[in-house]
Amino acid sequence: MRIAVYPGSFDPVTLGHLNIIHRASKLADKIIIGVAAHSGKSALFSVEERIDLLNTAIKNYEYPAECAVVVEGFDSLLIHFLQEHKAQMVVRGVRQYSDFEYEAQMSALNAQLSNYDIETVFLAAHAEYQSIASRFIKQVAELGGDVSPFVPQHVKSALDTKFNV
Ligand code: PNS
Repeated sequence: MRIAVYPGSFDPVTLGHLNIIHRASKLADKIIIGVAAHSGKSALFSVEERIDLLNTAIKNYEYPAECAVVVEGFDSLLIHFLQEHKAQMVVRGVRQYSDFEYEAQMSALNAQLSNYDIETVFLAAHAEYQSIASRFIKQVAELGGDVSPFVPQHVKSALDTKFNV
């Protein structure tokens, strides 16, 4: 069974993340979306809120292949989370070339930490998702811009509530 972990902050989930999940579901039998408590960034939403937003986003979603998709929080090292779930693969979306430097470094670190037991698979973001980053979405929402082209409706509502819009 091919088990993949798609880790991230997901603060909050965007249509770009959902597109990566959709495409990764063709590559694995099970995808565990790992919501990281430790990503080195301060978060707007709690881990529980981010998990709820993801669960709502994937609930009515039709995946192209037979693939189980679940959401879980983790507060450990990513490689320990993979080992706990007997996962062999990390999936990461890459939007711009500049993302790749950070991603390549992280994948090399994880490979080394896991004694070269796990692989990272990079999926290049499709053109319409290349501008979508959670950190920009939060700023746009906070300053009264329309984020509806970038996030599911329930995420827009959650952002509106956070920012008292
Ligand atoms: O969506 P992000 O913030 O780019 O995701 C980064 C994430 C969560 C994948 C990374 O910070 C991570 O793996 N955190 C878990 C702790 C860990 O294993 N750190 C060492 C690798 S950087």
